Amino acid sequence: MNYSYVSHLYCPKCSKTYSSEEENHLCICGSPLLVDYNLDNLCGQLTPQDLVQRAPDLWRYHELLPVQNEDNVISLGEGMTPLVHFPSLGKDMGIPELLMKDEGVIPTGAFKARGAAVGVSKAKELGVKELAMPTNGNAGAAWSLYAARAQMSSTIIMPIDAPGITRNECALSGANLFLVNGLISDAGKIVAEAVKEKGMYDVSTLKEPYRIEGKKTMGLEIAEQLNWQLPDVILYPTGGGVGLIGIYKALRELQQLGWLSPEQKMPRLVAVQSEGCAPIVEAWKQGKKESNFWEGSETVAFGINVPKAIGDFLVLDAVYKTEGCAIAVTDEELLEEQQKIARHEGAFVCPEGAASFLAARKLRNDNWIKENEQVVVLNTGAGIKYPDTVDFDIPILEPGDSI
Ligand SMILES: Cc1ncc(COP(=O)(O)O)c(C=O)c1O
Ligand SMILES: [Zn+2]
Repeated sequence: MNYSYVSHLYCPKCSKTYSSEEENHLCICGSPLLVDYNLDNLCGQLTPQDLVQRAPDLWRYHELLPVQNEDNVISLGEGMTPLVHFPSLGKDMGIPELLMKDEGVIPTGAFKARGAAVGVSKAKELGVKELAMPTNGNAGAAWSLYAARAQMSSTIIMPIDAPGITRNECALSGANLFLVNGLISDAGKIVAEAVKEKGMYDVSTLKEPYRIEGKKTMGLEIAEQLNWQLPDVILYPTGGGVGLIGIYKALRELQQLGWLSPEQKMPRLVAVQSEGCAPIVEAWKQGKKESNFWEGSETVAFGINVPKAIGDFLVLDAVYKTEGCAIAVTDEELLEEQQKIARHEGAFVCPEGAASFLAARKLRNDNWIKENEQVVVLNTGAGIKYPDTVDFDIPILEPGDSI
């Protein structure tokens, strides 16, 4: 058996194919490229039962990942994050079967570790020595740390307002770090220039086909953790949308492998955004296939402050095909929700995760989510990465005071 069943890259827009054994970024038509696998060959060779003995990290799905030689795997043990039942918050929302997939407990404290682990490993396999990317913080932190482990150098550009801790993570890893007085889209333009001039490997969101494969493992894990019975709804905080595209891709691959019973419906995928930056929601409301650039975007849920996603058409396609929806929430309400989650369930989720729980609450109120439905919410990172979103006045005691 092969370590990986990767076959090639293909363009979801014009169907042109490319090799996965040489460096490729976008299709000549400008679309991101996706990875295809020899699933027909894998069918029957691998069964869900074979996974049971494997280590609890995302490499347990190595046949469905693009790294061909196991020696190239760069891992910090990422993956198999907990899927936790939230009975108290669920009762409060009227969703008894509310579950959190907790990506806060993964190396680097955010789900970005998945994309970085697989992306850096594949870059190593392709002989890359130096990578470059724009980021809203968490991705840059993960990629620069994994690059360091692979002895690769990294150039990272992030908005000056990105969470300070992610800045420190990059700097600590030895990355060439720059802050831009603007948005991730401004950082992206500078990276694109630098890549052209200096020949660095561009790992900007979806300009590199393998990050999505790492994020896909969230979908594989949800299916495995639920014993191959899919939930009714999955909510995902959507910036570039890579996680949502990845989860959809994962579930389709499982269908093709025959690991899901044929009568099972796809979960309805929900793209959650902030009212301060909701290009996908706006496009979805208008039934459009692509989004427009969102001017003046701003939100405390920094990871989803993406005014125009290069893979927007793939996000929208996944939402339409699964009969999902797209919904925006306010910063004020999502911070209230963050507190409710901590008080009901003892979980300190990131603002992006809180936005997705709030979206579940709103969709239940609108009866779009039914009471008996099983709902999985992605908490994409640890709340402790965002200390500045929490602000309480705490009484200060002098030694000898009593309370
Ligand atoms: C914590 C967090 N959640 C969600 C996102 C959005 O991820 P995606 O690009 O997959 O939409 C990000 C991206 O930076 C993030 O850091
Ligand atoms: Zn194309």
